[in-house]
Amino acid sequence: MNVGIIGSGTMGSGIAQVAATAGCKVKLYDTNKSALDKSRAALEKILTRLIEKGRIDTLEKERIEGNIAYVDQLKDFADANLTIEAIVENLEIKKKVFSELERYVSNDTIIASNTSSLSIASIASSLKIPERCIGIHFFNPAPLMKLVEVIPAIQTSEAVVNNCIQIISDWKKTVAVAKDTPGFIVNRVARPFYGESLRIYEEGIADFATIDRSLKELGGFRMGPFELMDFIGNDVNYTVTETVFTAFYFDPRYRPAFTQKRYAEAGYLGRKSGKGYYNYDENGKPIVDAPPQVNEALSETIYDRVLVMLINEAADALFLNIASAEDIDNAMTKGVNYPKGLLAWADEKGIEWCVNSLDALYEEYHEDRYRCSPLLRRMKRENQQFFAS
Ligand code: NAI
Repeated sequence: MNVGIIGSGTMGSGIAQVAATAGCKVKLYDTNKSALDKSRAALEKILTRLIEKGRIDTLEKERIEGNIAYVDQLKDFADANLTIEAIVENLEIKKKVFSELERYVSNDTIIASNTSSLSIASIASSLKIPERCIGIHFFNPAPLMKLVEVIPAIQTSEAVVNNCIQIISDWKKTVAVAKDTPGFIVNRVARPFYGESLRIYEEGIADFATIDRSLKELGGFRMGPFELMDFIGNDVNYTVTETVFTAFYFDPRYRPAFTQKRYAEAGYLGRKSGKGYYNYDENGKPIVDAPPQVNEALSETIYDRVLVMLINEAADALFLNIASAEDIDNAMTKGVNYPKGLLAWADEKGIEWCVNSLDALYEEYHEDRYRCSPLLRRMKRENQQFFAS
């Protein structure tokens, strides 16, 4: 199968590696020649490292490298069965590239975008055959993260959807099909992990380290929210939150936090700038002060509050048919490494506990962000679970 990838930055290079490893013939295109050179050198380094670790041999490295051609014109995509675009996150530029691309490829070439925040329907509208357009959303780093969200636009044909699910599964990835709505699954459902943690901090309930520790120790999350925001970058994470908030017509559930905005404005971006919620040494390791005093009751309150807000978001995504229950849970365990799927977690904690905890928060604050999903309320009434036990 022939795959064309547009944009050889972080994501395009990773996707090229995935497709080439799966045996596809890949052409990787970029307008910037040095980005192509960088991509080739980065792949060579990654594969050499895999040889050192004993994961692949020299032959396999040569096979993967031999499957990728670096090209500097879109015309070279004439024989592509599938193209995936991973260029700058700008709708007008993407539309321009898509309409140019359509001139060179055949009528049945699938044209996909790796966008994380733009509507697939609007990108598809730039094509003469919009039925062939779809979102194929990888996570960074693409070769390591198991999840790929597949997002049909309202224009996309069913055949294209099924074809993509098959291709991505053949690339040994877990597919979650998501509705074309802001943040798709992961970037929508994960918002309270950051937002509610920031809110807890802003209320003066606990400091960063205590919140991180509560979620890691009681919840089993690999990284606490503040460590994770520092890792992602406060600029990047803030922008995603703000984009989702705006795209949801300012639903208060997604409202960004001033704390994070100020950190981003101050240049306290996290690991990459040497300072964020934590300070970092020259090796990118956090400089941890004295460990916070453990207060078990406080840790429990923090963990319960963030978890129930995450569960509410996952339940509401199911309520609004953004994805199936299985796909919502897979998305969070395989896209952001959550220790458990949130809906399975809801079953474990008990639907009644979820509803009561949300209602208690609502009672306390009278803010719309704490409104319980109608689905949870209905499930409590009817004594249901998300998954059969
Ligand atoms: P990047 O900045 O690393 O790479 C973008 C590449 O596209 C650059 O090499 C640039 O030279 C090239 N480019 C720009 N305009 C072009 C054009 N008109 N034609 C051809 N090449 C062009 O960006 P990154 O992070 O790889 O993101 C790419 C896309 O993937 C964006 O839509 C982003 O939202 C999405 N995405 C990013 C993730 C991330 O964690 N970085 C995760 C999932 C999706």
